[in-house]
Amino acid sequence: MGLELIGLSKVFGGKNGDEPLHVLEDIHGRVEEGRFLSIIGPSGCGKTTLLRIIAGLERPSSGQVLIDGREIAYESDRIGLVFQEYALFPWLTTLQNIELGLEIMGAPKKERLAAAMDYIYRFGLSGFEDRYPRELSGGMRQRVAIARTLITDPKVVLMDEPFGSLDSQTRNDLQAFLLKLWDTQRVTIIFVTHNVDEAVFLSDDILVLSSRPARIIDRFQVDCPRPRDRTSAACNMIRKRVLEALEAQKKSMLV
Ligand SMILES: Nc1ncnc2c1ncn2[C@@H]1O[C@H](COP(=O)(O)OP(=O)(O)OP(=O)(O)O)[C@@H](O)[C@H]1O
Ligand SMILES: [Mg+2]
Repeated sequence: MGLELIGLSKVFGGKNGDEPLHVLEDIHGRVEEGRFLSIIGPSGCGKTTLLRIIAGLERPSSGQVLIDGREIAYESDRIGLVFQEYALFPWLTTLQNIELGLEIMGAPKKERLAAAMDYIYRFGLSGFEDRYPRELSGGMRQRVAIARTLITDPKVVLMDEPFGSLDSQTRNDLQAFLLKLWDTQRVTIIFVTHNVDEAVFLSDDILVLSSRPARIIDRFQVDCPRPRDRTSAACNMIRKRVLEALEAQKKSMLV
C-alpha cells in the first residue's frame, strides 16, 4: 500500500494581522511500500515543511497523510527521520547514539547492544564505537544518523538533504551505501534533495516542486536498472527532463 499525501496545504501565520505565508498548495502524491521517492524543488519552497508534516511534527492547514489507506498513527507507525537539524547528540558516543532509538522503544539493554554492534559492523563503524560525533568525519556522522534511524525498523524513512554538507566523493559513496542498505532492509524512503543527479541516481520516482507555495509541477519514474551508471544515456535523459521542469518554472516566474 504505502504512503499517500492527499491535498496537503500549509499556511503559516496570518493571525494577529500578520501576512499569511502560503508554503504548500494542494500536494497530492503517493509512494508505494518499499519504493524510493525523491522530492526536488527550489530553496525555500516548502520541502522541509512537507517532510515535517509527514513526520507529524507540523499540522497541515488542510489535507491528510495516509499510510496503508488509513490515517497515520504516530505512536505505532514508526516514521524514521534523518534530518540535518536532527544532528547526533554530541554528548553520546557512536554506540550510545545508535542504541538510543531502541532505548526509547524500551528494548532491553542486552538486545540493544547486540543490535547496535551489528549495525556498527555493517555500517563500517567498527573501532569507533566509543568516539563522540566531533571525533568522526562528516560521512561517518551521517552513517551513524542513518543507523540510528534504521535500527528501529521504521515503516517509512524521511530524509532531508542528508548528504547536502558532504564533499562530492563522500556523497557518491554514501548514496551507493544507502542503496545497498535499502536492498537488504526494504523500507519506503522519501528523500529531499536539491541535487538532480542524486535524485536520478537514487530514486524510483521523483516529484518536482515549484517555488513557494510549492505545487507539484512534474513527476518522473526512473526506470533505469540498478546499479545505475550515472553517465548512462538513460540517466542523462531523465536528468535533462528534471532540469527542464525546474528551469521552465523559473522562467514562468520571470514573466
Ligand atoms: N514554523 C514556521 N513558521 C513560519 N514560517 C515557516 C516555518 N517553517 C518554515 N517556514 C517558512 O516556510 C517556507 C518554506 O520553508 P522550508 O524550510 O519548508 O523550505 P525548504 O524547501 O526546505 O528550503 P531549503 O531548500 O532551503 O531547505 C520558508 O519561507 C520558511 O521561512
Ligand atoms: Mg529544507
